[in-house]
Amino acid sequence: MAGNKNATEVLLADAAGIARAAAILERGGLVAVPTETVYGLAARADNAAAVAKIYAAKGRPDFNPLIVHVTGAEQAGCYAAINSQARELMDAYWPGPLTLVLPLRADSGLAPAVTAGLPTLALRAPAHPVMRDLLESLDFPLAAPSANRSGYISPTSAQHVLETLDGRIDAVIDGGACEAGLESTILAVRADGSLEELRPGPIRIDGPVGASSGRTDASIEAPGQLASHYAPGKPMRINAEAAGTSEFLIGFGNIAGDCTLSASGDLNEAAARLYDCLHQAAASDHPRIAIAPVPDEGIGKAINDRLRRAATPPE
Ligand code: TXA
Ligand code: MG
Repeated sequence: MAGNKNATEVLLADAAGIARAAAILERGGLVAVPTETVYGLAARADNAAAVAKIYAAKGRPDFNPLIVHVTGAEQAGCYAAINSQARELMDAYWPGPLTLVLPLRADSGLAPAVTAGLPTLALRAPAHPVMRDLLESLDFPLAAPSANRSGYISPTSAQHVLETLDGRIDAVIDGGACEAGLESTILAVRADGSLEELRPGPIRIDGPVGASSGRTDASIEAPGQLASHYAPGKPMRINAEAAGTSEFLIGFGNIAGDCTLSASGDLNEAAARLYDCLHQAAASDHPRIAIAPVPDEGIGKAINDRLRRAATPPE
């Protein structure tokens, strides 16, 4: 790296790459890491200077708190109060794409910026083997938002990460394409025992869960819920049956596009390919984007949630 101290190192997802990432994180650096949902931009969560670098690299507003990644329920218990309901959810869905919002422990030792001053903490134990090996090798948890400049499309490949963060972060581990392709489901476990879904995602919880969608107020709890988010930087039209003039069409099922989410109409494949198609659409010569209807069932609900936000122009 001699002569170019700002270059972002691209690390292989092998033991040496993971060890190198661990060393960078130990000393308070930033490393983008693959998870089963999207790539995360990781820093040690117990270090205020390291966490501040995440906000600076992303250009993220400091009122938007971060998810802390842990190896499992035991480590989670060091940072948040875990009631029986939270424990059951962890046992059922961890490791995996479920983030739980729980009461922050007063003695957590986490950098205050992680929670942006909230009395709650978002925790997740990821399933991706590379991320798990990395977490197991560390004696601190990792704060990690999606590894993109704030407001932009989430990354599902190392290449996507470099598109907006090259030169702004120390390293990225190239673990290939993310399997789920959509950010984790976020569920708040309230003191009164109720559950509130703050962000739909790959995991659908059965039973009575209150949904909070489309909030736009300034006192928002999870800014990822803001109406306009994940924007491709061009006007976008949803539920399109065909491309209009100068539109890049993202297809689904029997509507074939310039790029297609899933020709066979498979919603899991569509979720995994969504951000890659949006990145292609954003990079194309077309000034506008249109996207075919996606059935609002199963993970299709989470896909449509992201599409509505991508199609809402910023205020
Ligand atoms: O799949 C994922 O969740 C990915 C990977 C990297 O784990 N991470 C991710 O992070 O999507 P981010 O920062 O892009 O989205 C996290 C969301 C934000 O909308 C944030 O506002 C919300 O989680 N959040 C974090 N802490 C919270 C808290 N204490 N209460 C409510 N929402 C919170
Ligand atoms: Mg994000």
